[in-house]
Amino acid sequence: MKTVFSGIQPSGTLTLGNYLGAMKHFVDMQDDYHCYFCIVDQHAITVPQDRLKLRENIRSLAALYLAVGIDPTKSTLFIQSEVPAHAQLGWIMQCVAYIGELERMTQFKDKSAGKEAVSASLLTYPPLMAADILLYNTDIVPVGEDQKQHLELTRDLAERFNHKYNDIFTIPEVKIPKIGARIMSLNDPSKKMSKSNPNPKSYISMLDDEKVIVKKIKSAVTDSDGEIRFDREAKPAISNLLTIFSLCSGTSIVELEERYQGKGYGDFKSDLADVVVETLRPIQQRYKELFESDELDFILDKGAEQANRTAIRTLEKAERAMGLNRKKRS
Ligand code: TYM
Repeated sequence: MKTVFSGIQPSGTLTLGNYLGAMKHFVDMQDDYHCYFCIVDQHAITVPQDRLKLRENIRSLAALYLAVGIDPTKSTLFIQSEVPAHAQLGWIMQCVAYIGELERMTQFKDKSAGKEAVSASLLTYPPLMAADILLYNTDIVPVGEDQKQHLELTRDLAERFNHKYNDIFTIPEVKIPKIGARIMSLNDPSKKMSKSNPNPKSYISMLDDEKVIVKKIKSAVTDSDGEIRFDREAKPAISNLLTIFSLCSGTSIVELEERYQGKGYGDFKSDLADVVVETLRPIQQRYKELFESDELDFILDKGAEQANRTAIRTLEKAERAMGLNRKKRS
């Protein structure tokens, strides 16, 4: 069985973009792959976080993973900071990475733009991400479009390490969904939907209640020609809404275009709101039960134990290949 690894930052409520671009696919992969899903809390602290809020976000993300359908009997669900090998291999990957290639990462440029004090960890974020992936001999990394550049760097770092020291790391493939790899903001379809956007009208949170979802979809920008047609260049806003509709309902975009031919944006938006509410309702119900449960802690403890076992083995191999680690091979 091939191995899958992916991670999500606990840096606020997740959006419909996180769900449609990533989480939904994680669930589909569980039967066919050996899966690791991680709450990457060490990535979240590359920007300032409130201590109590972060603790809550970590727990909330764990509950959401389970609520969408991650099954702990099939997949390993764990918190990054509970597996020390991530930070340890992260350091090694920093030793392999060049400053120039890290400075070229668009996420670094976006997050550091205009800031006076930028943490060093914002620059060294991608080597830690590479470590996350490489520790588990990962074959496939399912992510949204925005992570593609980080995955290319991960492959480069792994190849560089293997070439320089020894063939330790599996070179991972990125898996980006054909539809929904980049769900856009509801009020500006040139920007991706993001939980860090200060305007909550730009995104649907996975935990928004029904009324809020309806309101946000009603106020989503459209365009002036009134036609419901997929055309990413000419009609980015409607194309984005069609993508969301298609993914939440399982109806193809072509079928939706036919269904709404000659109908106005009003009907379309009202049906879209229903479909989104129906998609999120069962997830939100399970989420509420899980958030407070002891079961959640049990699953995370077990996940950390399983992840540690594999991660330590890979870390030790990498260390030995470089001349570190005094321990005899077990
Ligand atoms: P993060 O936490 O920003 O996002 C989690 C996942 O959601 C996807 N995503 C989207 N997909 C479609 N449309 C959107 N608007 C949208 N917004 C987010 C992201 O592409 C991602 O798949 N660096 C990563 C976390 C990470 C990681 C890893 C991922 C750390 N280590 C190792 C994979 C493997 C991040 O910040 O994702």
